[in-house]
Amino acid sequence: MFDHLQATPPDPILSLMAQYRADPREQKIDLGVGVYQDDRGATPVMSAVRKAEAALYASEQSKTYQGIAGNPVFGGQMLQLLFGADNALLTTGRARFISTPGGSGALRLGGELLRRANPNARLWVGTPTWPNHIPLLGSTGLPMVEYNYLNQGGDGVDMQALEEALSSAQPGDIVLLHGCCHNPSGVDLSLDEWLRVVELCERGGLIPFVDVAYQGLGEGLHSDAAPLRLLAERLPEFIVASSCSKNFGLYRERAGGLAIVASSDSTCEMATNQAMVAARQIWSMPPAHGADIVATLLADSQLKAEWMAELEEVRQRILAMRQLLVERTTGNRAGCDFSAILNQRGMFSFLGISAAQVAALREQFGVYMVDSTRINLAGINSRNIDQLSEALYQVLV
Ligand code: LMR
Repeated sequence: MFDHLQATPPDPILSLMAQYRADPREQKIDLGVGVYQDDRGATPVMSAVRKAEAALYASEQSKTYQGIAGNPVFGGQMLQLLFGADNALLTTGRARFISTPGGSGALRLGGELLRRANPNARLWVGTPTWPNHIPLLGSTGLPMVEYNYLNQGGDGVDMQALEEALSSAQPGDIVLLHGCCHNPSGVDLSLDEWLRVVELCERGGLIPFVDVAYQGLGEGLHSDAAPLRLLAERLPEFIVASSCSKNFGLYRERAGGLAIVASSDSTCEMATNQAMVAARQIWSMPPAHGADIVATLLADSQLKAEWMAELEEVRQRILAMRQLLVERTTGNRAGCDFSAILNQRGMFSFLGISAAQVAALREQFGVYMVDSTRINLAGINSRNIDQLSEALYQVLV
């Protein structure tokens, strides 16, 4: 039976991660997978997370099922993080939250819900996008239409392409959007551009599906949610896939969830019930440990403040690494100019070098990045910047 299976191409990010781990060189540099690293190249458990986990361990009485939507305290806290505690969506019952296995689970479940709600809907995807968006959302059976997300220089959004795409979409079609920290380019829509998107969705009856995997790593925890609050003000329906992997550093715990926004309390309840039926068919109950840690942390004002400060440190370090890379490469004899990355936000940017140069960096210098030239800025640190800038100089000269 299995010998009839066809080989499928490996995921570009995960296969790079495996290649990096298998490389015996001590001086290798990991700019691949989107995992935060501190200046020592480590991915530590955040201090507030560790304390919340200890408190949870001390107080947890049972590991029994929590139900398909998961921990309701987690759900309530996540809605507040996304929309703000005083948002009318929360007080009128127009928003609900289902805990899922990470942000990827939320994407899968969201796609499933939207396909069931409108079997004729198409999903509009600006490319480039996170490589796993395509197979993950494609597996729900939603037909996809791709449009160009970046302008020719790669340093801004191609608003003309985006506006043309959304103007030609049918009512009920879905628009996949990155809430902040665009993965892979770091090029985000400005608030004015978001406003334009909202107007087009309003006019065309389109449903935004927003992926928020990096809240707090772009302009700040609250600023990164500004587009969501704009959507909440203007649109009757949309959904948000939210991840706690990066901003709480909970990667392997698979914490995240799907926020469903509908025009009324009763419609939202109906949509949420449908999503719960879908979740039951796919994974039944969500994992609880990561979500319970987040719920414990966010419900404790002291821990929350500590976490916010740690998250801000993470954000500032990534910004500093953008600056450092530009400083150390601009004007060298290879004529590098990576200054566009200073305007980009989140963990990633494209270097915009050739595929042969990406391969040479990996093979000759142990510098790992995705073939698209996406780099994780958090992989840069004070100890490897000399090696990295020299390697870039050597391959680019
Ligand atoms: C990434 O883009 O590197 C991360 O989101 C990790 C992943 O699962 O691809």
